[in-house]
Amino acid sequence: MKRITISVPAHTYDAVIEDGLIEHTGELLRSLLGTQQKLFVVTVEPVRRKWGKKLMAALTGAGFAAQILEMENGEHYKRMSTVEGLAEKLVSLGAERSAVFIALGGGVVGDVTGFLASSYLRGVDVVQIPTTVLAQVDSSIGGKTGVNLHAGKNLMGSFHHPRVVVIDPGVLSTLSEREFRSGLFESLKAGVIGLPDLFDRLEKTSIKALRKDVTTLEWVIAQSVKLKADVVSSDEKENGLRRFLNLGHTIGHALEAETSYKHFLHGEAVAWGMVAAAHIAAAVNKLDDFSARRISHAVLKSGELPKVTVKSRNILDRLQADKKTRNGVVHFVLPRSIGKVEVVNDVPQSVVLQAVDELRRLSS
Ligand SMILES: NC(=O)c1ccc[n+]([C@@H]2O[C@H](COP(=O)([O-])OP(=O)(O)OC[C@H]3O[C@@H](n4cnc5c(N)ncnc54)[C@H](O)[C@@H]3O)[C@@H](O)[C@H]2O)c1
Ligand SMILES: [Zn+2]
Repeated sequence: MKRITISVPAHTYDAVIEDGLIEHTGELLRSLLGTQQKLFVVTVEPVRRKWGKKLMAALTGAGFAAQILEMENGEHYKRMSTVEGLAEKLVSLGAERSAVFIALGGGVVGDVTGFLASSYLRGVDVVQIPTTVLAQVDSSIGGKTGVNLHAGKNLMGSFHHPRVVVIDPGVLSTLSEREFRSGLFESLKAGVIGLPDLFDRLEKTSIKALRKDVTTLEWVIAQSVKLKADVVSSDEKENGLRRFLNLGHTIGHALEAETSYKHFLHGEAVAWGMVAAAHIAAAVNKLDDFSARRISHAVLKSGELPKVTVKSRNILDRLQADKKTRNGVVHFVLPRSIGKVEVVNDVPQSVVLQAVDELRRLSS
């Protein structure tokens, strides 16, 4: 069992990682919470079908009163009406201020349940049990919660850290290969940001092999969580270091938005974003060509990504439009080497256009 501590000014909590941990969640929570609190598990149908019974058995087996609530599956339901519907249901089930909510699912369930917990009766405790790679290595750590508005993603939200994050790599066995691989790009990102050993391992290991090798998978997840935990602990609200986590996300977000969030999974867009960042970094002489090629290769070796066919100009226009809503400059997180990144805000437009052209070329 691995324990990684996240420490922010008002709060310290652990992410606990172990294969098969879901079956021991009851004991884990008993030692943390006692058994007085009522537990309310929020999940989606595909996850409940695979893992709901096991979790509920573990909770009731440890002496908890636990109930399960479902929300509709998918990013489309990450919105205020879902939060409201769940809250109404919780009142009717008698959830009080001492209740503990448990998010069992991917990033969508985690964000919705975290946001719900931050505002229900002015705030109740939440436990995160992430069930996708993306949620295990990224979204369940750091306390960001939120929902989407029509105007954009994650525009409503709060910081609400969980009491504990329960990570069982075993639950990833039922995840589709595409989702698995997409989430793993966030781990590769962690490698480029600050963990060269993690990068090396991912560079050398095929996705198929990793899915079968729980020991390595556990190590990869723990490393990624550690990086995020360290960054969040030193910069909870994203003023400085936390921005490094946006590696690959500047162009990644623009690709997602330009294709109406239908063409790429988030991790896939970030993967292309990292290839672009490596290309840009080499073009502005921040990164040597060999390392830039290694990053591209590590992204592209694991199979085909959805192709980039968008116009480079449109991506640039989106970055410019975004910049008006930020501080007036486009920030790029660029690799300096594998394991070191830097924020750069004077990348010439022509270099950005060339980088997106390069993604189109690699797609053809
Ligand atoms: N809060 C943060 O810091 C943060 C960070 C990154 C991303 N996010 C958010 O995370 C969301 C994306 O999360 P995601 O990629 O996990 O998507 P998701 O939650 O929609 O899950 C993807 C799909 O996998 C299914 N699924 C989940 N676990 C499964 C399992 N074990 N077996 C079989 N199927 C399973 C889900 O039902 C869903 O269909 C986005 O809304 C994004 O904004 C939040
Ligand atoms: Zn991301």
